[in-house]
Formats: sequence, C-alpha cells, structure tokens
Amino acid sequence: MLQLSDISTYYGQIRALEWVNLKVNPGEIVALIGANGAGKTTLLNTICGVLSPKHGQVLFDDKPISHFAAEAIVQLGISHVPERRQVFSGLSVSDNLLLGAYHRRDKAVRQDLDAVFELFPILKERQKQAGGTLSGGEQQMLAIARGMMSRPKLLMLDEPSVGLAPLIVREIMRIIVDLCARGTTILLVEQNAKAALQVADRGYVLETGRIVLEGTAKELMADEGVQKAYLGKGNRLQLARCRIEAGGYACLTDSSIETCVVCPTRQRNKA
Ligand SMILES: Nc1ncnc2c1ncn2[C@@H]1O[C@H](COP(=O)(O)OP(=O)(O)O)[C@@H](O)[C@H]1O
Ligand SMILES: [Mg+2]
Repeated sequence: MLQLSDISTYYGQIRALEWVNLKVNPGEIVALIGANGAGKTTLLNTICGVLSPKHGQVLFDDKPISHFAAEAIVQLGISHVPERRQVFSGLSVSDNLLLGAYHRRDKAVRQDLDAVFELFPILKERQKQAGGTLSGGEQQMLAIARGMMSRPKLLMLDEPSVGLAPLIVREIMRIIVDLCARGTTILLVEQNAKAALQVADRGYVLETGRIVLEGTAKELMADEGVQKAYLGKGNRLQLARCRIEAGGYACLTDSSIETCVVCPTRQRNKA
C-alpha cells in the first residue's frame, strides 16, 4: 500500500532522513519507533506532503506521490493525525470533526459523523463542547476521529500516547487495533515502543534519520538492542507535565536530556 524507497529529507542543509526504506501492507499496523529527534515526524510529514524528499520515492498504491500537494494526498486516502493532537480548542467537537472532511463535497459527511460517534461515544456526548475542554485522552480520540473523517485507507498517527496516563494509553491502543480490524491500515509512530509493539504486526526502528532495524513486532521486542534502548526500565523516558507549557503538553524530564523537544517552545527543560 505504502512504500518508501531511499528517502532523504532535509531542513536546509541539515539531513533529517537518510536513505529510508519502509513498507506498509494493506491491513497491517506498522510501528515506527525511535527516540526524540530521530526523524519520526519528519518521516510522516514527508509522506503526507508537508515536506518534499530530496531523494527517493514515496509510492501509495503503486503511484508516486512525493511531489503531490498535501490536500491531494488526503484525497488519495492518507490521513495524518499530527503530534500533540492539534485540536482547535475554541471549536466544538463536531466542528473539529467536520474539519476532517473539509475537502469532501459529498453528502455522506453527516453519515460519517454518525459512524465516528459510534466508534467514539464519548465524543457524541461532548459534541457541543469546545475541543479545549476535553481531557488529554479525549482530545487524542478527537484527533483520531477527525483523521477518520476523510475515510482514509491509511491512517498515520504521530505519538498518540504522549502525555497520557497508562490506562488511557491502553484505551487509545485498543482503538487503534479496532480501527485496523474495521479495515483501516495503520502507521503508528511512537516513542512508547512497548505500547506500539504490543499492538503492531511489524516495526521499524529509526535512529538519527536512519532505519537501523526492522522486523515483526515480536522479533523487535525480543531484540537485545531494542530492549536496552527502548524497553528497559532504567532507560525508559519519563514523561511528565511540561513546566514550560502549562497547557498540558508532555515534556521530557529525563535528567540526561536538557532541552524540551516536545513542547513547541523547545525551551530548556529546567526540571
Ligand atoms: N522545522 C525544522 N527545522 C530544522 N530542523 C528540524 C525541524 N524539525 C525537526 N528538525 C530536526 O530534525 C530532526 C528530526 O526531528 P523530528 O522529525 O521532529 O524527530 P522526532 O519526531 O523523531 O522527534 C531533529 O534533529 C530536529 O531537531
Ligand atoms: Mg515527532
């Protein structure tokens, strides 16, 4: 369904992705795991047309899409649920959802809204409330539901678990499995390798812009290097409330990391 061949993406002179090869087959959940700054978001932005690769090709259903506009890519069936949810806090839940179908002129939009409410009953209950009044987990559900409003074949999620309590993370992962079972193929980007590999069929490990390992989720979980770097208790990155952004973004308080790279201000983390 999706195939990346030898993709390199730059920010000016800085290379953020280097010769990336990755494939997502129909019906799969594929996890892309990697630490902060590895290039995960850059990869999703390269697929959805926000960034253009300098080299290589993105194929979707065997069609090259690397130089398509972002809107055309949505219409082909790729939906991107961005990092940090990006819910419009002043708009109602319903209006947030309708924005997910902004490019559609068909009459089935209302029908899809009902279908999405069936999948996410909590959003139906809160449909008239402003997006900003929802809890973190509900906002993540809203972001995923909005992504579903364009009827994607492939749904790409950028760190849906970030900043959420373990119980809510489990709920979000359950929803992802459910969406896949109902026919949507998933590319799941996560720093939370454990949560992602538990639900994925296959996975890739990205380190400083390169794919360093790939395999079935089972193989990756059993891999010594993955266990040490991404699954080990001692090395697990601690997510806590961001002290800079009181708005509830998560930020790294791991003492070995000095800069908050999650919150948009990218300020030094004084934790
Ligand atoms: N807009 C940007 N301009 C310049 N460099 C960027 C920009 N966005 C990200 N980067 C850099 O590219 C690298 C990959 O970032 P990103 O894709 O956001 O990683 P991840 O999502 O894995 O945390 C990092 O070194 C980051 O600092
Ligand atoms: Mg990212």
